[in-house]
Amino acid sequence: MQKMKFSKNLQDKIDILKNRQTPIKLGSVAFSSPLLLAPMASICNWPFRLLMEDLGAGGTVSELISCHGINYDNKKTHEMLRVDPREKNVGIQLFGEDPKAMALAAKIAEGHGPKFIDINMGCPVKKVVTKGGGSALLKNPQGLSEFLTTIKEAISIPLTIKIRTGWDQDQVNADEIIKVAHDSGVEFVAIHGRTRAQQYTGQANWNYIEELAANCPLPLIGNGDLHQAHQVKERLSKTLCQALMLARGPLRNPFIFLEAADVDNHFNFTASDYWEITQRLYQYICEGFQDERHRLVQIRKLIVWFTGGFPHATQFRGHAFTSQNLDEVMRLTEDYFLSLNQISKRINHDEAFMTSGHG
Ligand SMILES: Cc1cc2nc3c(=O)[nH]c(=O)nc-3n(C[C@H](O)[C@H](O)[C@H](O)COP(=O)(O)O)c2cc1C
Repeated sequence: MQKMKFSKNLQDKIDILKNRQTPIKLGSVAFSSPLLLAPMASICNWPFRLLMEDLGAGGTVSELISCHGINYDNKKTHEMLRVDPREKNVGIQLFGEDPKAMALAAKIAEGHGPKFIDINMGCPVKKVVTKGGGSALLKNPQGLSEFLTTIKEAISIPLTIKIRTGWDQDQVNADEIIKVAHDSGVEFVAIHGRTRAQQYTGQANWNYIEELAANCPLPLIGNGDLHQAHQVKERLSKTLCQALMLARGPLRNPFIFLEAADVDNHFNFTASDYWEITQRLYQYICEGFQDERHRLVQIRKLIVWFTGGFPHATQFRGHAFTSQNLDEVMRLTEDYFLSLNQISKRINHDEAFMTSGHG
């Protein structure tokens, strides 16, 4: 399917900044830059991932997908596995606690065409950890080897993991986990710099991430609290990690991957650029979801985040949420963005934004 074309002005900015990105390899997995989109539940489906690749993400990871949902042939879960042929560098993330069930699910996920299979070892959510999945896997480094090896043996593409620093302050053990992962044939590791106990409070511990990176037997991807382009640039310039992952930043600033490549802050992205990318996202969402209600829910939440930081965004949000009609929401969004014309946004980063998640 042909992508909706961007204006020459926007496409030129994208091309120039993408040309400044440096392709990398983490183990055997190639990415078009060291800045990757982190997995996010109910957000990182293929339409959003593809848009982020269009806008300079070096690679992406799916939302977390239940191994049991896959193995029980749950229809909704299988839809989550979809990889679009236009996506270049995508991994599928699975969660679960049972090695055999994970291995079976990984084999099925591999059939959908991702470049790698990622295991969620960072989800702090009670429902997941009480069963032994997500960050509960950090509590048992001894059992981890068999868990990872069983999954690895079932697939022929690389296996990767995404972890936290540890279960809690007294059990910070990412170094031990990474060693086991290395010995079990894992290709690379992404780390969110908080413990499970911290959930999303406090700050990501970058001192610890950098210490780990200095002596890491595997390529390490650092993650946590890089929400603004200048923070990403600064971290990129000094980090010992091979790559960085961004989750919440791109929701309010989908141009963050490009802005991070704009060393001298030469380019800016205006409200009319936001309207263009919203139209392309709308195209992808319409291709990805047949049901009108589903399309509305998907696009509306992203539009609301995209508008954050523009003038009168709260008022616009009120209108967008009272409408139950997809065409009307798109019309309102067009009117809103085009009324702002060439204005750029200012996000208030002191306000709390999305303080819960699955990793
Ligand atoms: C809404 C939301 C959903 C998330 N879902 C997942 C997930 O499915 N898998 C995962 O490994 N991490 C998940 N995370 C964690 C992020 O990938 C990332 O580690 C965390 O948000 C810290 O990065 P950030 O400060 O750039 O947002 C989620 C985070 C948020 C905010």
